Amino acid sequence: MGRIKDIRPLKWMGDSLLLLDQRKLPLSEEWVECRDYECVARAIEEMVVRGAPAIGVVAAYGVVLGAKEMASKSAGYADFKAKVELIINRLAATRPTAVNLFWALKRMKKIVEAGKSIEDIIAALETEAINIERQDVETNRKIGYYGAELLSSREVILTHCNTGALATAGYGTALGVVRAAVEMGKDVTVLVDETRPYLQGARLTAWELQQEGIPYYLITDNMAGWLMALGEVTCIIVGADRIARNGDTANKIGTYTLSVLAKEHGIPFYIAAPTSTFDLSIKEGSEIPIEERSSEEVLYCHCKNCRIAPYGARVKNPAFDVTPHYNITGIITEKGVINSPSEDRVVEFFSQ
Ligand code: MRU
Repeated sequence: MGRIKDIRPLKWMGDSLLLLDQRKLPLSEEWVECRDYECVARAIEEMVVRGAPAIGVVAAYGVVLGAKEMASKSAGYADFKAKVELIINRLAATRPTAVNLFWALKRMKKIVEAGKSIEDIIAALETEAINIERQDVETNRKIGYYGAELLSSREVILTHCNTGALATAGYGTALGVVRAAVEMGKDVTVLVDETRPYLQGARLTAWELQQEGIPYYLITDNMAGWLMALGEVTCIIVGADRIARNGDTANKIGTYTLSVLAKEHGIPFYIAAPTSTFDLSIKEGSEIPIEERSSEEVLYCHCKNCRIAPYGARVKNPAFDVTPHYNITGIITEKGVINSPSEDRVVEFFSQ
């Protein structure tokens, strides 16, 4: 198997942020250049960049760009701080479900609060954003290692959405486990759910696996159950957008269905996520805000030039669902695996 490639969805240029336009993949590789925080906020809202860890990293760079902009637009230190806090609020309002966004912005806010001068704050914000990006890749490699250790020498892994390099600063979470297993020399085949309606699986996961030469089959979401019944799936690994204190996990719509099917067929169902995806302030999944996205994603093909449904069709489009903790075999983090997660186990894990 070939060497794992270093796919990156973003490049920090010092005075701008380059984002690989994920709306255009896999048909063209185009970069969006953001020179100000509003461009970054829109890029998150419009899905130029998506995936829980990636939007956290990108938002952190958005704060840096915003602080640099405000240096010349502020009437002194206090005004500068107030303006940067407004920028943080703007970035926080882009997407509601993935907690990594708020986690990264909290880190940036702390820097602003502790800073002694405008220059110091800007320099410290840039260092922090670079650290968040670097740490994310390191974290993902550790998740990959712990996850791959759980796998046997031959696996057919079903995954959902895109949890790869594109959804993070690099390497990926659930797809990072796949990468690590390949690096360990395991014989891995991936079943890629296309992930209606936004098709992150078909467009992005398939693209990443193809770049790496990792064997995969693309399937439509409704094929997963039947393939499980046929014994063609040995394990399911997905990512997460927010994990509650009891282990209930929000992830891309369709994950819950997979967890129920996995239970029915006795297939291990793993979540791979950094500890920054845990929201210990909430007790259970019902407290996780679920983003409702535009009806157009359901009514039209992704390329937007062909309508699927009749005019007048009413649509529901929750972008995420919540998998109850009791359907999860284990949560793979950079600090180890939480087996059969429950409130007690999660709390104990974080108290170590
Ligand atoms: O709407 P998206 O594409 O941002 O949703 C992404 C997911 O649901 C991923 O599974 C999750 O963020 C984990 S990415 C490592």
